Amino acid sequence: MRRSERLRVLANEAIGPYALVRVERGGLDPGVPGQFFMLEAPGRPLPRAMSLCQAPPGELAFLLEAVGPGTRALAATEPGDELNVYGPLGNGYRLEVERPLLVGGGIGVAPLPYLSQRLGAPPALLGFRSDWYAEAAALVPNAEVVVEPILVTEPLADLVRDGHKVMACGPEPMLEAVRAIAPDAQLAWEAPMACGYGACYGCSVEIDGVLQRLCIAGPVLEAPKNGGTHGSPVGPLLHTSRRRATSWAPAGPSPAPPVHATSRPNRGERG
Ligand SMILES: Cc1cc2nc3c(=O)[nH]c(=O)nc-3n(C[C@H](O)[C@H](O)[C@H](O)COP(=O)(O)OP(=O)(O)OC[C@H]3O[C@@H](n4cnc5c(N)ncnc54)[C@H](O)[C@@H]3O)c2cc1C
Ligand code: FES
Repeated sequence: MRRSERLRVLANEAIGPYALVRVERGGLDPGVPGQFFMLEAPGRPLPRAMSLCQAPPGELAFLLEAVGPGTRALAATEPGDELNVYGPLGNGYRLEVERPLLVGGGIGVAPLPYLSQRLGAPPALLGFRSDWYAEAAALVPNAEVVVEPILVTEPLADLVRDGHKVMACGPEPMLEAVRAIAPDAQLAWEAPMACGYGACYGCSVEIDGVLQRLCIAGPVLEAPKNGGTHGSPVGPLLHTSRRRATSWAPAGPSPAPPVHATSRPNRGERG
């Protein structure tokens, strides 16, 4: 059950370019892998969505890439700092899978250590832009690692032919490519999230032709079982053809109305 607590930071470790921030668990439930928490970003009015990376006893750990003011503030936290943490939120991965294959790209590795733990360390395929980024692969057991210019999709096709069922997280182009190879993959998508629980509509995206809030419908989405015609790929789960024209944080106290959002917002400052 989701709830909000003020939790103490226990440690903050650098892993390649990423920060692994460990907070005390308090009374929070770690939830299902692929679910996320809204973390207070010190000095910023809005929290930031983070997937749970690890759930050791008494702790919750989050792997962050500092890409903007919120993640920079979180990456700069020190042991003893306190953060408001709210969750678990959204829908995680369906765990009843016979031959799981975890696939991650870049910071998309974040939910995979906890997923791997819950599934008993199945094989994983991870892609990174350099050896420095690939240091995060140490968090996932049984991982084959590729570094650009090799992409995860290169070894993926053979593994899918062998009957592996893909559970993936990564940048949108990677997810699109994975879906083309494995139409029944479970994919964790991203959209700008200001509340994380359905109130702001900032995360509205078109899923199977219907505008939905990704924080409620996802972030993990699975192709509908009957979504495609004979032998052809299923229709796009998430249409991303149009970019939003404005910065994506809803302003003011009242929930913003639904907008035709994409999962890659424009670069812009927010709360
Ligand atoms: C469900 C979910 C789980 C996530 N889990 C993690 C995680 O485990 N580790 C992690 O490092 N990040 C994760 N993120 C992304 C993280 O929430 C954003 O990177 C963060 O909110 C950026 O905030 P900022 O203030 O640092 O940067 P901003 O200035 O807000 O953004 C920096 C740049 O990233 C873009 N951006 C910001 N948020 C998103 C987003 N959600 N999707 C696509 N582009 C975005 C902005 O448009 C801008 O170009 C997750 C996002 C979601 C929705
Ligand atoms: S993040 Fe507010 S509705 Fe989804």
